[in-house]
Amino acid sequence: MSHRSGAYPQVRLRRNRANAWSREMLAEHRLHASDLILPIFIQEGTNTETPILSMPGVSRITLDLLVKKAKSAKQLGIPALALFPVIDMKWKTPMGDEALQPDNLVCRAIKELKNAVPDIGIICDVALDPYTSHGQDGVAENGVILNDATIDILCKQAVVMAKAGCDIVAPSDMMDGRVGAIRAALDSESLIDTSILAYSAKYASHHYGPFRDAVDSKKLLGAAYKRTYQMDPANSAEALREIALDIAEGADMVMVKPGLSYLDILYRAASNFNVPVLVYHVSGEYAMVKAAGVQGWIDGDQVMLEHLLAFKRAGARAILTYAAMDVAEFLAK
Ligand code: PBG
Repeated sequence: MSHRSGAYPQVRLRRNRANAWSREMLAEHRLHASDLILPIFIQEGTNTETPILSMPGVSRITLDLLVKKAKSAKQLGIPALALFPVIDMKWKTPMGDEALQPDNLVCRAIKELKNAVPDIGIICDVALDPYTSHGQDGVAENGVILNDATIDILCKQAVVMAKAGCDIVAPSDMMDGRVGAIRAALDSESLIDTSILAYSAKYASHHYGPFRDAVDSKKLLGAAYKRTYQMDPANSAEALREIALDIAEGADMVMVKPGLSYLDILYRAASNFNVPVLVYHVSGEYAMVKAAGVQGWIDGDQVMLEHLLAFKRAGARAILTYAAMDVAEFLAK
């Protein structure tokens, strides 16, 4: 046996962990405010904040409050916001027509933000679920979500938002071929600088419940589901295929969603592809941590940090999380 065997008792990994300064110095991954993207639910009206019961600490807010929130987010070092509109029931139609109105809620929000807080990035979902009377992301015929007819509308929706000033359009609908079609539609309108963040590996998850409460699509969806277009949680090789296709179609960034239950997918995506891979820490994941935290069953703030750090460790370049403000405030201390 050699003098230094490369094992205990010479080797003691606890030496590196012994002090706060050494742990700090040797940390392989770190969470920073610049990793965080804040999703925000917006609604019509003025000076009104409507709490979402299934998402403690999250509210739907009106555009005046949105501007204030964007300023605080920017100050905390959060680089971008993701906007989700709550559309009045009277504007919801089977085809989601409101999505194409150049003065709809999302477009007005984009314009106000670009005026008031020009240096924060704006990401907008391309999907019809906030606008359809049936709560699906696309248009339906006899209960079947039509792929190509939906794409035509999504292309128009993306152009409308890009013209309003949206920096990144994020197709979250999971139709086949939509990324390439949206890229072509944007380019044909000379919107060559608008980026595409593809929700590439988006699973048909039960973690989206609180989000559907927030945008009022849950009751519309009823017993219907999105399993014919969102991915089967049983699959992982298929996620890599989805991501490869979206990159080939021109995605600037791709996303895995949800996060925690799909860390293996995130890790494989980040290891396999040289495009930025983002992750969505979705509403149900946020709600679970909050709920257990409120009960005092876990330290909710610390568990939240641990989840977000896990995303960094798995290879996420940025994280969409409803906890972005709280975490950025914590990190600033
Ligand atoms: C809709 C959309 C959903 C989310 C983001 N965009 C819900 C869904 O697909 O039903 C979920 C986000 C979350 O749960 O936080 N296209």
